Amino acid sequence: MPVATAAANIALVKYWGKRENRLNLPARGSLSLTLDALRTYTEVVRDESLEADTLTIDGEVKTGRAVERITELLDLLRAEAPPELRKIRARVVSKTTFPVAAGLASSASGFAALTVAGSAAYDLQHNAVELSALARRGSGSAARSLFGGFVRMEAGRLLDGSDAAAHPVEGVPVELAAAVTIVNSGEKDVGSTDGMEKTRQTSPYHRAWLDQVVKDLHAAEAALKKGDLATLAGIVEGNCLAMHADAMAARPGIIYFKAATLWAIDRVRALRKGGLPVMFTVDAGPHVVAFTPPAHVDEVARELGQHPDIKRVITSRAGEGAKLIDALPAEVVR
Ligand code: PMV
Repeated sequence: MPVATAAANIALVKYWGKRENRLNLPARGSLSLTLDALRTYTEVVRDESLEADTLTIDGEVKTGRAVERITELLDLLRAEAPPELRKIRARVVSKTTFPVAAGLASSASGFAALTVAGSAAYDLQHNAVELSALARRGSGSAARSLFGGFVRMEAGRLLDGSDAAAHPVEGVPVELAAAVTIVNSGEKDVGSTDGMEKTRQTSPYHRAWLDQVVKDLHAAEAALKKGDLATLAGIVEGNCLAMHADAMAARPGIIYFKAATLWAIDRVRALRKGGLPVMFTVDAGPHVVAFTPPAHVDEVARELGQHPDIKRVITSRAGEGAKLIDALPAEVVR
């Protein structure tokens, strides 16, 4: 039965706001780096004896919304499947190489792996762009995890969303790695779907944010292609802070930062002032991600690990896109 693996990705130019909710269409494009170390392996087994899909993540049987979300995606695949397979439910078993509960980008690797394994399980033959558009239905950022390295997601224009898919950015002469901090944070964050919708509805800055993303996408891709990390740092950090400013300006304001987040942002800027080519970004949570060339990533991780509320820093090189593999690797079968 098909097994797929996909790596998470972290956006350098963020997606924050949809143009359509049902098909999960982003209002603007985004730009990301796929990260090898944050990986999900997913097996999808068709099982005629099941009345509903089942989901196990890292050995824990899931219920409720988590199962509904995978069923919604599998239903899209089943609708295209050969007629004799359409009613058959599936057993989905997922393993991750990073702490899912920490609120890292697990929906990106999770839905990318589910889409690739699910498409094969239901005897479908999708190309990578079709898989990307399907993965988007599970989570917007998952569309980017179909591809490796630097990836550009398009907002698309079509009403059916078939052009709202990602593609790799070719011709980048520099390599970036990431140091991903895991910040201890008590209460649960506002999820990205709710956060971006409330921001869209109530933030007076949302229009300005959407306009800025268009400029940032263009400038970030140009800086990447020139290998100009100093210019890229200004765009990536500015884009991240603009996204958070937009969210903070929602009513009531959405604040993802914790004290350790601001501390890590400061450290990254101090390291850059000291001559290191490093830049930060922060998703819809408190964890700072620092991008830097692979030669510096261990040093950056050591520096960012100094705060008492940063319990771990995961380092990662760029990763490949989602793909089918023969079986779950021995080291992830626990
Ligand atoms: O894929 P979603 O729906 O969880 O949205 C991701 C939103 C951000 O992580 C904050 C930004 C991004 O582009 O990944």
